[in-house]
Order: sequence, then C-alpha cells, then structure tokens
Amino acid sequence: MRTHYCGQVGETLAGQTVCVCGWVHRRRDHGGVIFIDLRDREGLLQVVFDPENPEVFAQAERLRSEFVVRIEGRVRLRPPGTENPALSTGKVELLARSLSLINRSETPPFSLDDDTVGEETRLKYRYLDLRRPPMQKNLRLRHDVIRRIRAYMDAQGFVEVETPILTRATPEGARDYLVPSRTHPGRFFALPQSPQLFKQLLMVGGLDRYYQIARCFRDEDLRADRQPEFTQLDVETSFLSMDEIMALIEPLVVGLFRDVLDVDLGKLPRLSYAEAMRRYGSDKPDLRNPLELVEIKDLVADSEFKVFAGPARDPGARVAALRVPGGRERLSRGAIDGHTEFVKQFGAKGLAYLVVNDKSRGREGLQSPIVKNLSDAALAGILERTAAENGDVIFFGADKFKIVCDALGALRLRLGQDLGLLQSAWKALWVVDWPMFEWDEQQRRWLALHHPFTAPKVLDAKALENDPGSALSQGYDLVLNGVEIGGGSVRIHQAELQSTVFGLLGIGEDEAREKFGFLLEALRYGAPPHGGIALGLDRLVMLMAGAGSIREVIAFPKTQTAHDPLTGAPGTVDPQQLRELSIRSTVATPTSSAKPLHPDKA
Ligand code: AMO
Ligand code: AMP
Repeated sequence: MRTHYCGQVGETLAGQTVCVCGWVHRRRDHGGVIFIDLRDREGLLQVVFDPENPEVFAQAERLRSEFVVRIEGRVRLRPPGTENPALSTGKVELLARSLSLINRSETPPFSLDDDTVGEETRLKYRYLDLRRPPMQKNLRLRHDVIRRIRAYMDAQGFVEVETPILTRATPEGARDYLVPSRTHPGRFFALPQSPQLFKQLLMVGGLDRYYQIARCFRDEDLRADRQPEFTQLDVETSFLSMDEIMALIEPLVVGLFRDVLDVDLGKLPRLSYAEAMRRYGSDKPDLRNPLELVEIKDLVADSEFKVFAGPARDPGARVAALRVPGGRERLSRGAIDGHTEFVKQFGAKGLAYLVVNDKSRGREGLQSPIVKNLSDAALAGILERTAAENGDVIFFGADKFKIVCDALGALRLRLGQDLGLLQSAWKALWVVDWPMFEWDEQQRRWLALHHPFTAPKVLDAKALENDPGSALSQGYDLVLNGVEIGGGSVRIHQAELQSTVFGLLGIGEDEAREKFGFLLEALRYGAPPHGGIALGLDRLVMLMAGAGSIREVIAFPKTQTAHDPLTGAPGTVDPQQLRELSIRSTVATPTSSAKPLHPDKA
C-alpha cells in the first residue's frame, strides 16, 4: 500500500512520486490550501492539497483527526522560510495527487498533542496514547535494549530458558497472585514473584549459564517504579564467584548505556551496605547528589540535650548531621518548616538545624534553637566534622537508626532536587557486603535482606547460628541514580546450610519441606556452586528513557491501584466459573455480564 513511511520522506526524494499511509495528525486550512500532517510510526509528513485538484481537495476537506488515509503525491521542497527544523521531514512536503480514506475515527477523547491528559484516560485509551511519539519512542527503546541484551547474553554463552508461570509460591517477600486450580479443588497455583527457584534448579540441571526475559508477579503496594507484573533480565550461572558474576553483568549495563545513549558510566564503584547507610542513609544511594550524612553520636553523648543524648547512648539509634552548603541564603524559614514536616512521614520527631553565620565567633556565630543545649566542644566538633563554612545550614536527625537514615536520606534527595545540586546525569554503583539478616522488632524475628537462598560470606552454619546479626552475605545490588535496578547473590548450594538459614528465618522444618522441599532435595544431588542476578528491565528502560514512571515504558500497565482501565481487569466472573473452582465469594456477586470467552464444554 505504501512506498515509504511518512517520517522517512526527505530531500533526497524531491521530485519523486511516493505513496504514504497513516493517521491525520492535524488539518489546517490556509486560504484555499489545505495542509495535513500525516503521522505514522516514523514521524510526521506535511501533505498539501491544492484546489487545482478539486476532487481530491473536496475529499481532504472532510478529513478529521485520526482518520486513516493513503495518499499518493509528488515530494517537493518547501518554499524557503517555511521549513520546519523540528521534523525529520521538515524540508519537504507532499503535494497530494490522490487520497483514499481507509478508515474514519470518532473524535478522540484527547488530543495526541496534549501532555496533560490524566493517566486513567491515557490507559483507558492506551491504543490512542500509544500513537503519541514519546510512547512509540519508549517502546522502541525498550525493544532495542532487549535486543542488545539477548545478543550480549548469547555471545557470553547463556541459554534462554522459559520457566513456569503457573507454579508454587516463590519467596521474594511480596504477596502472591494466586490462581485457583479446577482439577485440584481447594488448591492454588501462585504466579512467580521471580524465577528464582527454577533458575537454581536449572543450575542443578547442568545448564551452567541461564537467562530469561522473565515476567514476574508481585501483589504489593504500587509506586512509580513498581508494577504488579514486571519484567526482569533474570540470570543464573554455575561455578562463578560473586566478583565473576558482577564482572559479567557490569559490561552489559555499561555497554547498553554506551551503545544506546552514548553515555559512559565508567567503572562502577562498590560501596558496602554499611557505608551506604552511614553516608547516604540509603541502601540505594543517588551518588549524583553531593550531600552526605555525618555521624555525630560521640560528640553529643554527654550532652544535656535529651533529644540528642538519648539516641546517642542507644546502640540501636543514630545521631547524624546533614550539611547544606550555602543553605542560609537558599533555604527560607518556610522551606525549613516544610522539610520538618516532610521528615515526619518517616517517623522523625523533628528536624533540628543550625545556621552557620560566623564560625570565628564560636557559639555567638551560630543561630539555632538548639545551640543553647550543646556544649562548645560539641558545637566545634560538629562544625569540624561536617566541614561547615559560613553561610551553611546543618540539619540533624536523632532517633532509631532506621528512622534517621530514612528521614535524612530522603531529605538529602529532596534538597538535591530542590536546590539543583545534582552533579552529573548518571551515577551507577554496586552495593555489596549486605547483612544476611535484619531483625524485625515487630515480628520479633530475623528477615532475609536479600532472599533466603543467598549465601553468607562465611559458609559455616555454626558461625551463622551463633551470631546471625553480624553475618554478611554474598549479595549485591546494582543502583543507578538512586534506583535499585538489579539485585542478586551467590546462593547456598548445600542443603544443610540452606536448612539452617530457613531455621533462622523462622521457617520451620515442616514449612520448609512443604514449600521448598524440592529445592532442598535438589541440593542433595550434586548441586554446583551457583549464583546470579536479576535486573529490573522496566526500571532500566525508564531511566534510559528519562521517564518518571515505569508505566511510561510498559505498553499496557496497571494503574496505582493495580487495575487496567482498558480491559477492566480485574473483572468479575460467572458464578458457574467459581463453582467449577470450588470457590465461594464472600463479596456479593456483582450482577455481571462477564461470560467466559471459551466456556469449558466439560
Ligand atoms: P529482586 O526482588 O531484587 O530480586 O528483583 C530484582 C529487580 O527487579 C526489579 N523489581 C521490580 N520492578 C518493577 N516492579 C516491581 N514490583 C519490582 N520488584 C522488583 C528491581 C529489582 O532490583 N530473584 C531475585 C534476583 C536474584 O537473586 O537473582 C529477585 O527477584 O529492579
Ligand atoms: P524541642 O526541644 O523538642 O523543642 O526540639 C528542639 C529542636 O529539635 C526542634 O527544632 C525540633 O524540630 C528538633 N528535634 C526534636 N526531636 C528531634 C529528633 N529526634 N531529631 C532531630 N531533631 C529533633
């Protein structure tokens, strides 16, 4: 039907006859001449309808937005001064000779040029939203990234293997999506939160190097970078150390940025979890931001100021300072009040601060509601340790370790944004030396910081049982611009050690056998040492696209409340379907017209 894509008609075709197909993006009537911007996936082409060709002109008058047409005509250079440098086809236009209307369109619910359309509407009419150039660009970027990933993995000897979607619960820590079984009444499949257990079994199965562009399902509270179903580049290898696995994945990520965006990420630094928390208050620090937290526990432990002294003497707490260079001029009273409110959402009780007017005048040169509470030595120590200069503002957090990290860590990011402090466009790093476990005060038990299959650094069950709190794991996270884009580990490959870890996590023998018995058993049949990683593909592409949410790089995403305005999923089902599944709903059955598309004749 066509000879060229609209977006590909350039100067070299001037004088030639071409045939293009696409959607009417815009129609403008200009004193007897009609202009149409015709759109296809490659871009826009200006088409001119001249009244000298009255029949075609009359047809063009009836065109409306999003009508589908085929146009044949002659390419000509635009008259000087009318070129549009914003378009790839901006130097030419198509003088229409014939027009066929292929399909009409109702008036679209929004203009494709309008980028203020609400997300619910965009998703309800996603097929229209997808016509917009930014969405086309994002999906093609995603394709380009996946294509390059496959080429890289293939070149490194990886084999792509598909793993089941209907399976058992997998332990990534989120809630499962369940699928009731008809043939086994009362039983449920779970959709995989990741292919974790299967990829480990593939290693026991001798595949040695596995990867998969894998769909994962997690029923968790959604955010800008979380979807109930998302895609991982999932990887597992045998007989490789942690360093070797990282050395295999780093060039892939660095190469993607180099080849797709012409960005050099450089060699990725490694930061221990402890250092990341200490300096940035986060296990996924955004290193583009120069602000750092400084520990001042020792400086205020003897102070009269209970707000600081209490946490300073509590081993589970921290007292930290965050210096904002030039903050006196850049932070208004109102802004500081705003930040004080902001940190409260992380559990902070307040946000003490201090303005450095003139260091040389000792406490007289400092302005703050808390100066009177702190000794000269403490104040001098704080100025020295934070390397404060005149004109700076120093914020303080004193509370349980996690609260201070969360509050000042988030404040650090907020100040970085508000004050435009980011020093580069891209900063990636590895976070390593994770603790194996984290004590959960509420549940009064240990939780795995990665997942329960992550190997400790020291492969010694006794040592682990004696002091779980200080054991480090062979886990690693890949962080880009403050977003966790991947995580993995070397796994436990001995059944005994795996059982010990289950025990520490409060997973009893029966539960372990019931849920993970097949893994424990497999580990007993000569399991090789193995380990891997999963990269969050949606997050990676979101960052590469400069998008604010992973929904911008997923063709048909769910909303924040995990529903799909386009299909109406999740939908109601026919009572008969529930009966077949031996399920009785406690929710009043909505009067639904939902009929199974393919009713089971049995
Ligand atoms: P993890 O749970 O850390 O590890 O997931 C790996 C990466 O997947 C991305 N991710 C998500 N992306 C979008 N929406 C979500 N709801 C979501 N949850 C996670 C993140 C994350 O870094 N089996 C292990 C990997 C391994 O150990 O090899 C796993 O799934 O970018
Ligand atoms: P107060 O003595 O309670 O009036 O608090 C004095 C200052 O300390 C105020 O600026 C509070 O915002 C701040 N503040 C109170 N509790 C904390 C805390 N846990 N961490 C940091 N600052 C705090």
